[in-house]
Amino acid sequence: MSKIAKYTDEDFAKMRESAKVVAVTLAEVAKVIKPGVPLTYIDQIGEQCIRDHHATPACKGYMGYPAALCLSVNDVVVHGIPYPNLYLRDGDIISVDCVALLNGYHGDFCYTFEVGEVDPETHLLLERTKESLYKAIEVAKEGHTFSEIGTTIEQYVAQFDYSVPTEFTGHGIGIGMHEEPSIPNYSVRRFDSLSRTKIEKGMSFCIEPMVKIGKGQFKTRFKSRIDKDEWTARTPDNKPAAHYEHQLIVTEKGTEIISSYKLLGEVIGTEELY
Ligand code: MF3
Ligand code: CO
Repeated sequence: MSKIAKYTDEDFAKMRESAKVVAVTLAEVAKVIKPGVPLTYIDQIGEQCIRDHHATPACKGYMGYPAALCLSVNDVVVHGIPYPNLYLRDGDIISVDCVALLNGYHGDFCYTFEVGEVDPETHLLLERTKESLYKAIEVAKEGHTFSEIGTTIEQYVAQFDYSVPTEFTGHGIGIGMHEEPSIPNYSVRRFDSLSRTKIEKGMSFCIEPMVKIGKGQFKTRFKSRIDKDEWTARTPDNKPAAHYEHQLIVTEKGTEIISSYKLLGEVIGTEELY
């Protein structure tokens, strides 16, 4: 079985700094999200903010990914590329996924924003996806198994007839952008090693539910369609999908969310200030 990295308090101090960069960046990006704005502009704002904090955009150049941010609009589940011909329109949703590398440690954070007036059904998708993340964080505590995270997410969203992707997961994070373990957004089989792998002090990982409206090819699960660019992942039925992500560390005080919504909350006026 693969090994999960354990980090020290000094590592954690640096990770908090990296996570702060992505939190500040999403707050900056949130200010410019409105109808008519080109996705390339949003990417530029994000990249500038990351660099202003002496960090580097970890996605840029990662396996050939061409931009600083992943900007996924409406039916794009993840890894949307900000092409020059793409503009935000009233009623769109856009997930902004940002990874920054600072002093050798990664910060990773994603939030889905509404653009202008979004229809009530889509608004509910965002609220419930966000809620599934918080519910998963509740079980992501020392002594629980990693499998409880996916079970919590899938069970919570299934009651609304939503579904989660089979191929994109949360992950360990720290010195690497993607470390062990992979953390699916669904229930794994009883004999899967995640059902035995306990969350321990020193671990650092991201939980990132991606959720689409409507059932998938496999009931509560769906397989995305990937565009010719080999990045842009869409829902198979073009229904909208939301994506939220938090980065967590497990210290002697418990599980701490380091990609805080606080700064972002101040910009978009939410009360969810963890
Ligand atoms: N936050 C995304 C993830 O956790 C980052 C993908 S970066 C990319 O996988 F380079 F792969 F696009
Ligand atoms: Co991530």
